[in-house]
Amino acid sequence: MQVIKYVFQPHGDERGQLISLEEFKDIPFGIKRVYYMYNTGDGVTRGFHAHKSLQQILVCIHGSCKIKLDNGKEKKVVPLEKPYEGLYVSNIMWREMYDFSPDAVLMVLASELYDESDYIRNYDEFLNYVKNGGATTSAEEVIK
Ligand code: TYD
Repeated sequence: MQVIKYVFQPHGDERGQLISLEEFKDIPFGIKRVYYMYNTGDGVTRGFHAHKSLQQILVCIHGSCKIKLDNGKEKKVVPLEKPYEGLYVSNIMWREMYDFSPDAVLMVLASELYDESDYIRNYDEFLNYVKNGGATTSAEEVIK
């Protein structure tokens, strides 16, 4: 399983750092929604779902956390601890977010508006969806 991490270009000078993210340029899809998580309690794990179509980029813009990705065949844990790194999460990818530092802010750039019908919230249903050939979109395909 290939993990795609984007390293964004900071525009730094003596005043500090600034990162700008533009759709189809820095991000491989059109950005329809941005949301972020903060004040995540100690020991909390979030996520526990996959999406049929939605693609996302996760950026831990402050603090740190870990993301477990699972494509139904393989699992990988990706630490996110740099505000200039973005983890690409394709559709049909089970994800769990955990080990949030108390100061963590996890920002998500999403390719679609919020749509509950795009969620797969049951792990067995997810495995069946993978087995029955639900197509995964890769960042490389999207960016062409
Ligand atoms: P939830 O799906 O439980 O978050 P996570 O995947 O991180 O565990 O979402 C928490 C609540 O926020 C839930 O009531 C749905 C709502 N929500 C929105 O209204 N819009 C959104 O874009 C998202 C991601 C969640």
